[in-house]
Amino acid sequence: MLGEQKICFSGVQPSGNLTIGNYLGAIRNFSTFSDAYKCFYCVVDEHAITVRQVPADLRRRTYETLALYMACGLDPEKNTLYVQSHVPAHAELSWILNCYTMFGELSRMTQFKDKSTKHADNVNAGLFTYPVLMAADILLYQTDVVPVGIDQKQHVELARNIAERFNQLFPDTFTVPEPMIPQNGKKIMSLADPTKKMSKSDENQNAIVYILDDRDTIIRKFRRAVTDSDTVVRFAEGKDGINNLMTIYSCFTEKSMEEIEREFAGKGYGDFKLAVGEVCADALAPVQARYKELLADKAGLEAQMKKGAEEAAYYARKTLAKVQKKLGFVQVR
Ligand code: TRP
Repeated sequence: MLGEQKICFSGVQPSGNLTIGNYLGAIRNFSTFSDAYKCFYCVVDEHAITVRQVPADLRRRTYETLALYMACGLDPEKNTLYVQSHVPAHAELSWILNCYTMFGELSRMTQFKDKSTKHADNVNAGLFTYPVLMAADILLYQTDVVPVGIDQKQHVELARNIAERFNQLFPDTFTVPEPMIPQNGKKIMSLADPTKKMSKSDENQNAIVYILDDRDTIIRKFRRAVTDSDTVVRFAEGKDGINNLMTIYSCFTEKSMEEIEREFAGKGYGDFKLAVGEVCADALAPVQARYKELLADKAGLEAQMKKGAEEAAYYARKTLAKVQKKLGFVQVR
């Protein structure tokens, strides 16, 4: 808590390839949090290097990610937007928390097990302690809520366990955070296999619509979306493809399923798919225009990063100093 305001923290990977699933399921709603919470959004470049990166790409994607989140409506005046490596307290607290996290706990993390299979040639210690750095991110800001996808829930639970363990030894150090998993049923499915979630790591590019896809690409991808052999635009069991397209259409237009059924009564899937493509492209056009504008002004983005890092560092240093003092580190000033 910060005065009366609860604190919200989330980390975002520096990858420019966000999908409309990320947009509709999470990012679009981030801007509404800033009324209810004091929000920190951190581009986690230090987490990114747990798998091999091409330095020039990492650098470019760090700018792109910041620009994209801002273009999607995150207002840097109302939220603290910054880059993880610009606030050294993250790495410092992470070391300390390493000493309060058990080998066995980290061995049970499913993401570690998945990633060490996927990157078998590079099972580095950073990959193993990734969740500890994430706990440091969260605990540094005395965070109350952490908006994350379901795949990150286990990591937030570990952060809770670390916080509780530390608080047991050193009372009143950390706020114990809660994960906040979006549950509004706005899960967007793959266009190629609508029983699977739309994922940016899908190999089939036709399965995914990116926020930054151009209009023709968006319309083409929706035209190719897998549907069923029925012909009626209707939300019903067994019609996963159409249900998904209706969900997307509804997210962009705010129309109910009944309204959509009425709108497309007597029309075929072809007309409907084109309409979904058009509302999606129309909605993303201003985001893309703003993104281009922001990205063209590198100095502006850097000024933004600097301001964000200063804000974040102010809170982070307070927590870090408190922890260091409790641990018995000598404070000289
Ligand atoms: N691990 C998260 C992911 O891959 C990113 C992340 C890093 C994060 N630090 C965080 C998310 C702190 C929430 C809070 O998506």
